[in-house]
Amino acid sequence: MESFGISEVFPNSKPAHSERELTELMAEEKLEQLLANPDNAFLTQVPMNAEVIENARTFREALTFAEKRIRERLEQTLNVRKVVGGHSEHIHVNPDSVFNTLEHIQKNAQEIGIGADGRVVIDTTDMVNINPEICYKFALLEKVKRGRNSVAEEAELQGAFYEVAQTIASKDIGVPMPYYEIEVQTTQMIAMERLHAKSADDIIRGLGTLPAGFDIDRFCNSLRLFIDVMHAHDLYHRDLHFGNIMISQYPEWVDGEPMGYVIDFGLSGYAHKNMEPYKKEVAGDTFTYDDDYGRIETLRKTLKVVKTRRS
Ligand SMILES: Nc1ncnc2c1ncn2[C@@H]1O[C@H](COP(=O)(O)OP(=O)(O)OP(=O)(O)O)[C@@H](O)[C@H]1O
Ligand SMILES: [Mg+2]
Repeated sequence: MESFGISEVFPNSKPAHSERELTELMAEEKLEQLLANPDNAFLTQVPMNAEVIENARTFREALTFAEKRIRERLEQTLNVRKVVGGHSEHIHVNPDSVFNTLEHIQKNAQEIGIGADGRVVIDTTDMVNINPEICYKFALLEKVKRGRNSVAEEAELQGAFYEVAQTIASKDIGVPMPYYEIEVQTTQMIAMERLHAKSADDIIRGLGTLPAGFDIDRFCNSLRLFIDVMHAHDLYHRDLHFGNIMISQYPEWVDGEPMGYVIDFGLSGYAHKNMEPYKKEVAGDTFTYDDDYGRIETLRKTLKVVKTRRS
């Protein structure tokens, strides 16, 4: 029986690639993808790396080198800290388990809130418990410079506010407990207690409700007391707008349970004697922040309007 070569049957078809050529094509494509990722800019910007990639005999060789350097860099930039009280402690971890955890969270993330500095998500695979108790705040790129804390500083300050909040006899105002913080390359994330609460901003916009029995005056007075106590410990929040004040979303408020929470310590800081508490100097820039008490009376009035309108 006569046999035909493929090019004789389909004269326009190109000869099939050899396995070796296919591997090279795939390696070239993968390498291109890696180099296009801004996280991997160091591969082209660091001359030593760029040289090895350019002079590699095959794309496969270049890809193997690039992957090795990416991995090394991931490990070098990885920092995991556990928040203990107002401090954080570096902890030794298995890099793979951290990378896998981060990848898993990002793949299954459901956004529960977003601000100028961070995106807060829950992991939908935690939903077996219906209400996951943990959420993750991923830092966003700082668009407007406000002298923002690093994620490590933010987590520590949150820990400090949390600790001091525990000492207040009235439990009306809480702080979400920070658990740990991960930094790797450009990813910065704080894992913390997830609150069953909505921001005052969301509630005013109709995206949440005031629980039955919620006493607006008591809540606003407790917020004042909370700020007094924090200031007595030199802790200044400096960003207490309606998006950073949370109100419990249990249908009914029960005395002894938190009525709400203060969140987001991205601009907070310690202010010691002889320091202006609402000013911060960072690398020659001076940033000025709002007074912590500044929004409370407006909040009181606005929540009362909301309550009257909805009752
Ligand atoms: N622990 C939490 N539990 C539930 N929801 C949360 C929690 N932390 C934050 N959120 C939600 O995510 C939103 C954004 O969080 P956060 O205020 O920390 O981000 P941000 O970008 O720093 O905000 P800002 O714009 O004030 O700088 C909050 O307004 C709130 O609705
Ligand atoms: Mg906020």
